[in-house]
Amino acid sequence: MGKLSNKVAVVTGAAQGIGEKIAERLLADGASVAMLDVNLEKLEQTAIELDGSGERARVWKCNVADAAEVKETFSAIYEQFGRVDILVNNAGITRDSFFHKMTAEQWNSVMDVNLNSMFYTCQAVIPGMRDQQYGKIVNVSSSSSWGNMGQANYSASKAGVIGLTRTLAKENGSKQITVNAIAPGQINTDMTRDLPEDVKRMATMLTPAARMGNPAEVASVVSFLASDDSSFVNGECISVSGGFLMV
Ligand SMILES: NC(=O)c1ccc[n+]([C@@H]2O[C@H](COP(=O)([O-])OP(=O)(O)OC[C@H]3O[C@@H](n4cnc5c(N)ncnc54)[C@H](O)[C@@H]3O)[C@@H](O)[C@H]2O)c1
Repeated sequence: MGKLSNKVAVVTGAAQGIGEKIAERLLADGASVAMLDVNLEKLEQTAIELDGSGERARVWKCNVADAAEVKETFSAIYEQFGRVDILVNNAGITRDSFFHKMTAEQWNSVMDVNLNSMFYTCQAVIPGMRDQQYGKIVNVSSSSSWGNMGQANYSASKAGVIGLTRTLAKENGSKQITVNAIAPGQINTDMTRDLPEDVKRMATMLTPAARMGNPAEVASVVSFLASDDSSFVNGECISVSGGFLMV
């Protein structure tokens, strides 16, 4: 029996990277996991790798930036599992540019995927969580929420995630719902793969751990926040950055 046995979790952006490792970890903890992503082909491949039987891992193609798609997807998840105990809002994108060159499309697409999506997904689960008087929401922010060159859109979206997290924590805490965020530093995924070498070197230099993190090291913190081990932790944003935010 894992610590999340009989729990139902939803993980967005679960096809690869940090989301894939979160889904893997929650499955290992015993949860059933609804895995959502825009990239259905990759998502299906990942789900087969994580749970070939398909007993506890189910996939839904869902663009979390699309309100109607999110509504439809969560209806199907409730139909399938009957409840949602854990929501991990992980899907995210970057469209980096210096602010004076940034297009409205770059700004809006990042706000839509990284922040507005959480309005849709949280609205889809909070009424059910309030009724069942139980819920764990984990929102993925970023160390870039403190401000980062070339990432005005991304930083603003990830800072917005923290404000949303704290407000939902205050509004729903009395219903045994916790809402927390994590702020990863530089993690080894496709998102950081193509960053210029000097940017990666600089980030590593500013990280006391003197290396990039791995997705599994982020997933273990999500596992803590998704379980009753963190029952009295609410409205926090935990940095998972090897000490980057301390510097
Ligand atoms: N990698 C890092 O260094 C780092 C640091 C801080 C925060 N983060 C955050 O962690 C989260 C995961 O990032 P990652 O590094 O694993 O990135 P990634 O690009 O490897 O994976 C992101 C996943 O989200 C999916 N996705 C993108 N847009 C989507 C949409 N509209 N709807 C549904 N799914 C969508 C992608 O298809 C992909 O599977 C993001 O929110 C990111 O901002 C990453």
